[in-house]
Amino acid sequence: MTNFKPSHASFEIFSYKTLKDLKYRLMDLNLRIPINSEVKILQENVKLENKTIPNRLAIQPMEGFDANLDGSPSKLTNRRYTRYARGGAGLIWFESTAINEDCRSNPNQLILSDLNSNKFKKLVSSTRRICNKTLKDLGFKDNCVLILQLNHSGRYCVLNGKKHPIRAYHNSELDNDRGVSEKDGIVISDDNLEKLENIWVEKAVLAKEVGFDGVDIKACHGYLISELLSSRVRENSKYGGESLENRARFFLNILKKTMKKIKNDKYFLLTSRIGVYDGIPYPNGFGVKEIENETSPASIDLSEPLELIKELYNIGIRLINISAGNPHFKAHITRPYDTPLKGGAIPNEHPLYSVERLIKLTAKLKNQVPKDMVVIGSGYSYLRQFGGYIATGMIRQEKADICGFGRMAIANPNFPKQIFQKGVIDKKEVCIACSGCSNLMRLGKNTGCVIRDPKYRKK
Ligand SMILES: Cc1cc2nc3c(=O)[nH]c(=O)nc-3n(C[C@H](O)[C@H](O)[C@H](O)COP(=O)(O)O)c2cc1C
Repeated sequence: MTNFKPSHASFEIFSYKTLKDLKYRLMDLNLRIPINSEVKILQENVKLENKTIPNRLAIQPMEGFDANLDGSPSKLTNRRYTRYARGGAGLIWFESTAINEDCRSNPNQLILSDLNSNKFKKLVSSTRRICNKTLKDLGFKDNCVLILQLNHSGRYCVLNGKKHPIRAYHNSELDNDRGVSEKDGIVISDDNLEKLENIWVEKAVLAKEVGFDGVDIKACHGYLISELLSSRVRENSKYGGESLENRARFFLNILKKTMKKIKNDKYFLLTSRIGVYDGIPYPNGFGVKEIENETSPASIDLSEPLELIKELYNIGIRLINISAGNPHFKAHITRPYDTPLKGGAIPNEHPLYSVERLIKLTAKLKNQVPKDMVVIGSGYSYLRQFGGYIATGMIRQEKADICGFGRMAIANPNFPKQIFQKGVIDKKEVCIACSGCSNLMRLGKNTGCVIRDPKYRKK
């Protein structure tokens, strides 16, 4: 078969019936995806300074857009977390939750507030109870770890039912996207950013009070913090411009202030899901090479993300979750798929190449950060029933410490149990990367698997 330069290999859908088929295709495409079928290593725990994560599988944060209008978890939200808790992953990373009502991306996104904190307490305690029982039944000694992701949706905010971009700066490629024009919404001022820092810190502390084991200050996927990280063209601002110090100021201020508030509780984890490469060409991208007039996806340069992660380490952070892309722009960079969103484009690269990109980004950073920084990788659901083998390969080759699955968990929340007990994910239950869950999300509807979950299955 032709030995394509991987980025030029054209798109094709997943058709690998056996592991051998997958390995041959990877060889043809000259892609290096680590594969190992000795999955026992996934049952090993991971030690953080003062906490232990029971095993090497995590549920990635996945918005369900099924919260009540006051932002509290609904019955459907509880149902989703109960399903995850019964699955056996040692770490459940709760979905993007708004820090206040003005920065939601959907009227049914979760918001953490003093007024609804009791409902969050109930969600956390029931998830913990069920998850710990599952882990015990599976033979794990350590308790589950539950982390909440806190977010400001930035240019993807929806206010009073209408799109209301709160931008870090004008970006010609994104400003007129999704039915908005560059005149809609606002570019957020330095004063407002400064106020937001404190709101974010308050909510991070509230996450601790409602019982989470940790809080994620979300810095990925084109939302406010991630957009600030690439705000080179933001002028006359202490939060933007050429220097990374300015562009990271908002993010680091939140982390430092939160760390100060929580440091007496040595068991509470401060963490971040970081978008280390967004694929948007310079000067509007993060983790990209400084090449003028480049087309998307831009060439990768991890020097700034690495500098940032080292800063996180200096603040005392010992757990990071690596992601990439802006799902509103080129979704396949974040979540490789076979079928695009309705109306979306077929990527101009092979999906296995998109998977390899996520793997390489994680591996390169893991290799360069201090050994005691625990690194979680993303983007394995595309690999279907072979996902557990790739997770094993990642961990055996020290390319990640924990592997997090997103869409696979929506389709088949029992995938960890299947790997631990049978050595493989049941192929009849896997995610097929059809973008059905993302279509629901984009339509602003309750989100679930339209293929595997009867609750969401297409009639
Ligand atoms: C329906 C849906 C909702 C998502 N919600 C979030 C979210 O709340 N926070 C986040 O960081 N990523 C979110 N993601 C991205 C996933 O966490 C994950 O990074 C991505 O799907 C790739 O992993 P996978 O191949 O295992 O699905 C979402 C993805 C989908 C499809």
